[in-house]
Amino acid sequence: MDDLIKQAAQAIHDAQVVTILTGAGVSKESGVPTFRDALDGLWAKYDPQELATRYAFKTNPKLCWDWYEWRREMVGKAKPNAGHFALAKLQGYKTNLHLVTQNVDSLHEIAGSKNVVHLHGELSQTKCFDDCQGDPTIIDLETLVYDKDIGPPPCPHCFAYVRPAVVWFGELLPKHEYKLAHEYSQNCDVMLVVGTSGLVSPASQLPTIAKAKGSIIIEVNPDESMITRIADIKLDGASGEILPKVIEAMDELQK
Ligand code: OAD
Repeated sequence: MDDLIKQAAQAIHDAQVVTILTGAGVSKESGVPTFRDALDGLWAKYDPQELATRYAFKTNPKLCWDWYEWRREMVGKAKPNAGHFALAKLQGYKTNLHLVTQNVDSLHEIAGSKNVVHLHGELSQTKCFDDCQGDPTIIDLETLVYDKDIGPPPCPHCFAYVRPAVVWFGELLPKHEYKLAHEYSQNCDVMLVVGTSGLVSPASQLPTIAKAKGSIIIEVNPDESMITRIADIKLDGASGEILPKVIEAMDELQK
């Protein structure tokens, strides 16, 4: 493993442009559950069709709203872990480093990462269900007076429901963010893929796009994923343990 960590550090050190793609695994050591882990993944306990689609929200707004309120609270209490901090530190080493995440928590930013591209939105934000003032019509919950026991508050502009500003199944990714992620994938020398199963498209296509353009793919994941078969370097383990070791190895190279 030490050799693989050194190889990964060397590849990152030599790269002009590094793009990082993260998924739920990077936040697991912060106590935020992943989606597909068999025992404690969210989708092992809850049905995404009942909670994470436009139809589900329209059909049962209170159930969906309450579920997202629960997640917002849980994520609000979570603290970044060593993996988040290592990625933030890496940004200090490379002028051209882009961080793209599928995660809706804001733990990368709290750890100090800048210009994070959120492909699936952010739990901390809410928006109008109909995006009545343009896509997205972000609504600041703090400005609304509403009864938490009733369910989602109405949009102050059009009275449609306010909903979490995250991407649901069947919805398109935010255009600007996806364009950036695509561009960063096409133009990197190394793509570091951390803690994603690689099962949700189009985010899961980004490593393939990078690979096709000649990028070295480094994966950090304790398990096999859909990315593993295209990874040039696979670092088996939890990101909170592996990523600080990569940073240590990079420190050695900087000396
Ligand atoms: P998944 O739950 O599908 O996958 C999590 C990955 O993290 C798995 O491959 C695990 O092996 C790995 N993992 C677990 N613990 C880890 C650790 N400590 N360090 C590193 N990796 C670890 O989560 P995502 O791939 O992020 O979409 O899921 C993609 C999308 O599916 C999510 O953004 C969400 C979900 O439906 C939306 O909500 C739109």
